[in-house]
Amino acid sequence: MYRYIIKGGTKLQGEIDVSGSKNASLPILAATIISGKTTKLYNVPDIQDVKTTIKILEGLGCKIKKDKNKLIINSKYMKNTMIPEDLMRKLRSSVIIAGAIIARFKQVKFSYPGGCDIGARPIDLHLKNFKKMGIKIDENTSYIECKCDKIESQTIALDFPSVGATENLILASILGKHEMIINNAAMEPEIVDLASFLNRMGAKIYGAGTNTIRVKGVETLKDVSYKIMPDRIEAGTFLIATAMTGGTIKLNKVIPEHISPLLHKLSECGCKIIEDKNTIYLSTNGRLNGAEIKTMPYPGFPTDLQPLFSTMLTICKGTSIVTENIFENRYKFMQEIKRMGGKATIEGKTLIIKGVKKLHGANVESTDLRGGASLVLAGISAKGITKVSKVDYILRGYENFDVKLNQLGANIVKEEGD
Ligand code: EPZ
Repeated sequence: MYRYIIKGGTKLQGEIDVSGSKNASLPILAATIISGKTTKLYNVPDIQDVKTTIKILEGLGCKIKKDKNKLIINSKYMKNTMIPEDLMRKLRSSVIIAGAIIARFKQVKFSYPGGCDIGARPIDLHLKNFKKMGIKIDENTSYIECKCDKIESQTIALDFPSVGATENLILASILGKHEMIINNAAMEPEIVDLASFLNRMGAKIYGAGTNTIRVKGVETLKDVSYKIMPDRIEAGTFLIATAMTGGTIKLNKVIPEHISPLLHKLSECGCKIIEDKNTIYLSTNGRLNGAEIKTMPYPGFPTDLQPLFSTMLTICKGTSIVTENIFENRYKFMQEIKRMGGKATIEGKTLIIKGVKKLHGANVESTDLRGGASLVLAGISAKGITKVSKVDYILRGYENFDVKLNQLGANIVKEEGD
């Protein structure tokens, strides 16, 4: 395990390139199974979750070459249709690999992904809609076994616009002679990126980015090259980090509309924001005002930026209110922020934050990916030294996190040990 030693009190200034999206890369990597051909992917973030997904695909028989952010995946010789339990536990979102395996092999065996630090994260919406598609599911052992002769045409209505369930249903529907309609589908940009990748391969997916997605099964897919979209959550993380230190930043290789709810909120708090086609410029002038946020499915305020934005609110003026509507346990990081002088109380889904002028350094422990990143942002803006342990959580989802922050003027030392 690694930890960060952070000397706080520096302003972040400068510019960085945003890396490729973790949450677009994972479903697109899963999708490379379906073609049985060769896929070249560019702008793939060099992060632990990608490395874990590569291990799963290699375990299934895919041949993969990795050169930093470029991957070449040949899924021709894949024959194994079981996802190993230990890797399922390491990466719960690997449940979407099941949909891709079903698409090509009409069977798959995998274990329950298990909850994580932000909630139970069940997969009931995935499984009950697989059944509607004609997939027989046996849950009688510690494994889930899925089998079908063919995917049947169906109109599916998701109870909740789940990102993972939407991706899994799209993946499972790619090959065949059916037509699948998914109502109340998730509309996240990562779904649009997955659909444009699959359509580049020869799939027929219509309506990605809206709440109704139609998939027309096809017979075969082809070799394809594809560049992964920018990571909108990394982009938002760096904007919030800069705002907390009263600095200025220029983000390159970003798509501003992907995080417009955050940009509006940062402006409301007093930041100056200039957007261009693929850049965002942020500057601040004095202490920021507090705000109220409610997380919602896209295009609402993204739940993944809630821990980071809530951390910023702990040093804004006045009282702020945060409502987390997506995950039932996504305030754990705030216990650690309180060790740094943050003032917040939890009432059900709501976090009430009383702004303080400054946080102070402390020894804190990462609780999950975005919660861990929040502690780093708090340490950079705090007075004194902050030790953040278990930063392996953070390295799962942010490429060169400490390197990029130090390039902007932070003072972070990464060391072995917990
Ligand atoms: C994806 O997770 C992202 N992960 C998450 O990002 C993100 O927070 C989430 O979407 C919401 O935007 C990846 O893309 C790899 P959901 P996912 O299914 O698909 C409930 C990060 O930090 N639900 O949209 O798991 C679920 O419990 C991660 O990068 C069911 O009840 O999210 C949650 O409360 C964290 N039954 C809500 O829906 C189901 O079958 C949203 O989950 C599925 C989900």
